[in-house]
Amino acid sequence: QSISIIRVPFGLGAGRPGSEHGPDSIMKFGLAKKLAGLGYDVEADRSIRLPEGVRSPAGTKMKHVQEVLAVCTRLGEAVSEAVADGRIPLVLGGDHSIAIGSLAGLTRHYGNMGVIWVDAHSDLNTESTSPSGNMHGISLAAGLGLTHLKLKQIAEGAASLKAEHCVIIGARDLDRDEKALIRSCGLTCFTMHEIDRLGIEQVVREALRIAGQGTDGVHLSFDIDSVDPIEAPGTGTPVRGGLSYREAHLLLELLSESGAVTSADFVEVNPLLDRNNQTSKLAVELIGSLFGSRIL
Ligand code: ARG
Ligand code: MN
Ligand code: MN
Ligand code: MN
Repeated sequence: QSISIIRVPFGLGAGRPGSEHGPDSIMKFGLAKKLAGLGYDVEADRSIRLPEGVRSPAGTKMKHVQEVLAVCTRLGEAVSEAVADGRIPLVLGGDHSIAIGSLAGLTRHYGNMGVIWVDAHSDLNTESTSPSGNMHGISLAAGLGLTHLKLKQIAEGAASLKAEHCVIIGARDLDRDEKALIRSCGLTCFTMHEIDRLGIEQVVREALRIAGQGTDGVHLSFDIDSVDPIEAPGTGTPVRGGLSYREAHLLLELLSESGAVTSADFVEVNPLLDRNNQTSKLAVELIGSLFGSRIL
């Protein structure tokens, strides 16, 4: 099996700087070596940069739309190429707006893809409901075709996700219109409440059924702010009451065991806000669990 690590040093979709340093920091703590040690053929030299001269006009509600479109277009091409070559795309953010690029590239190949979105947030705002104007808060809505911005603008042949095969895990900070959308749009949301009641194992099992049955691929989009800020302080929008260290590992181990995951994003690591690189190191460990690292 081979993995294409695709670095996306882009943070303009977030409200504060720093996540653009995520990919280099995660690489620095040994990701490529870890994956090679697990038996993968690792291609690690891809980095997606913002093309020179792209700048959004000032004074619009949503911030840096042109920059997000430009980066996501390049990312979509890289992801699509990886899939075409039979490699697993592993996208390192960057803020969560870049998931739009991953989804655009992936849906060119997977006509009926499931998505597991692990996040403290739901990223289900639209250009009209966003309270912040930050593009990382609309990325899942964009994947579902609910925003003005459409995946097919980003990659030719891309198509919107079906809500019935999308699952959010770990939500605990939702805006009013996001809550209404979750109730009406047909996706499944396991908040921290359901995780506490059912346990992470059952939640992951159900998530795999929803995203995996009757689909031709499963994309994992993992926002590090899903993990409790005690374990993952290095992120721009931390929310208390998140996944424990052990729940996060177990979630990824269960996804790994299932063999269902065909691509992944790891996003929102912000080294400028981190303590002793704890969050970057955690990201390396968690990605290891997704790709087969085990205690024994
Ligand atoms: N819901 C808030 C917003 O729309 C926060 C989104 C945070 N998203 C993230 N990917 N960390 O701005
Ligand atoms: Mn997110
Ligand atoms: Mn988040
Ligand atoms: Mn179906």
